[in-house]
Amino acid sequence: MDQSTLLFWREFLRHPTQIGALVPTSEGLVQAMLQGAQVSQAQVIVEFGAGTGSFTKEIVKAKAPDSRFLAIELNPHLAQTLQSQLPQIDVCCESAANLPQLLQERNLKQVDTIISTLPWSAFDDQLQSQLLAPACKSLAPGGRFATVAYLSGLLLPGARRFARKLKECFRHVYRAPLIWNNLPPAFFYICTK
Ligand SMILES: C[S@@+](CC[C@H](N)C(=O)[O-])C[C@H]1O[C@@H](n2cnc3c(N)ncnc32)[C@H](O)[C@@H]1O
Repeated sequence: MDQSTLLFWREFLRHPTQIGALVPTSEGLVQAMLQGAQVSQAQVIVEFGAGTGSFTKEIVKAKAPDSRFLAIELNPHLAQTLQSQLPQIDVCCESAANLPQLLQERNLKQVDTIISTLPWSAFDDQLQSQLLAPACKSLAPGGRFATVAYLSGLLLPGARRFARKLKECFRHVYRAPLIWNNLPPAFFYICTK
């Protein structure tokens, strides 16, 4: 097991509902979601819940050279480790709920693509709204919000509530097929504003 996975696991044991998964996202799921989210065409990209960087590292490779990228991670140990591994990117140790303020500080008006791996089904109604409303508001018209959802959590009331909120917030919600090669098996939503 590599150092990143060990760190992720340790933080999961400390904050299970905040981390929400036992191991980082698999390569197959990362690639499928980044393609669906059209990251290479975005001018401003934001990641919610960067963790140990499964998505972050691939976003850096896929994004246009002149695009702006902000990786948000609430957990200070994970944020610090990620920043030391990728010193060239902007890693922000904050809650994704503060997105409007973080954009303002960087003189950015709108976001084209948000990539999220937040464990939405573990969040209560209020926290889901506190995170989703600023995300939706910050997206440019036609902007994309892509988020992972876990098969294991699908039947939880929180997951069903989150799926309803996505339909309320976005013009179009696409649900991708299940990817079994992930722990736990997962799928993703691509939502268009
Ligand atoms: C399921 S993990 C995903 C980590 C990584 N992106 C991956 O795909 O392997 C969810 C991450 O979201 C972070 N997180 C939870 N709540 C957050 C919040 N309000 N704002 C920013 N990050 C948050 C957790 O600390 C954790 O690193």
